[in-house]
Amino acid sequence: MSTLIDGKAQATRLREEIGRQVSRLRQHELVTPGLAVILVGEDPASQVYVRNKATQAREAGMSSFEYRLADSVPQTKLLDLIERLNRDPEVHGILVQLPLPPQVDESRVIQAIHPDKDIDGFHPINVGNIATGGHGMAPCTPLGCLMLLKHQLGDLSGKHAVVLGRSNIVGKPMASLLLQKHCTVTVAHSRTRQLEEVCCQADILVAAAGRTRLVKGDWIKPGATVIDVGINRIEADGRMRLVGDVDFDSAREVAGALTPVPGGVGPMTIACLLLNTLEATCRQHR
Ligand code: GUN
Repeated sequence: MSTLIDGKAQATRLREEIGRQVSRLRQHELVTPGLAVILVGEDPASQVYVRNKATQAREAGMSSFEYRLADSVPQTKLLDLIERLNRDPEVHGILVQLPLPPQVDESRVIQAIHPDKDIDGFHPINVGNIATGGHGMAPCTPLGCLMLLKHQLGDLSGKHAVVLGRSNIVGKPMASLLLQKHCTVTVAHSRTRQLEEVCCQADILVAAAGRTRLVKGDWIKPGATVIDVGINRIEADGRMRLVGDVDFDSAREVAGALTPVPGGVGPMTIACLLLNTLEATCRQHR
């Protein structure tokens, strides 16, 4: 039986530490970190994420500014709002929840956010800084995965990490961060041949493919550390349930350590968003 990696508990500890730093900033520097979250449209999953992000920001002592725009919003209106938030000294971090409706050009929107306020780490300047090993803002989900891995394994140097998925939000930045920690990194995806054999070589397997229970126990090297980024909604026994990209029951028999869904990566993503907002505030206030 593998060890369960308790992302919820680690995220709680991280948020408490962030809360202490925020109150220190408010008392001694007279600045309150401000997070602006923009949601376009009515996607139910996005609404839940945005609500959680705003609530947890406030619980950590930050200011939270929420903007809800109609699904039909013209791109110029969204860009104008971002421009206003770029200039607002009370806002230190700006997050535009993805995905966006088709009339809006996602990369145009990401590039409109000032790189110092890009707490998602999606702006090409931050992507480039992370890829070249500099001090950019790292995207929250891969940053959270890296923290869980370091807590579990300590030094990652020389380990073979297989990242399953190549999205801009998770797969690609995850590969950059693991490379920075001296892992041997393989990025596998839906066109990868002999996917199962590739996964079997991993000391560290990060599953971010967006496919329900894709990774079975026999895809996992005995003792490997498995991080499940998947959040898939399925209906079971007449109820909605969240399951990951890893088949939990069979993986548990083989992996050395494994994150559950929910309660693994998800809570760490939000905690890392708050960490990036705190970091952005400190940089802008210097
Ligand atoms: N949609 C899914 N994940 C994310 C994320 O990390 N940031 C933003 N902005 N949108 C998302």
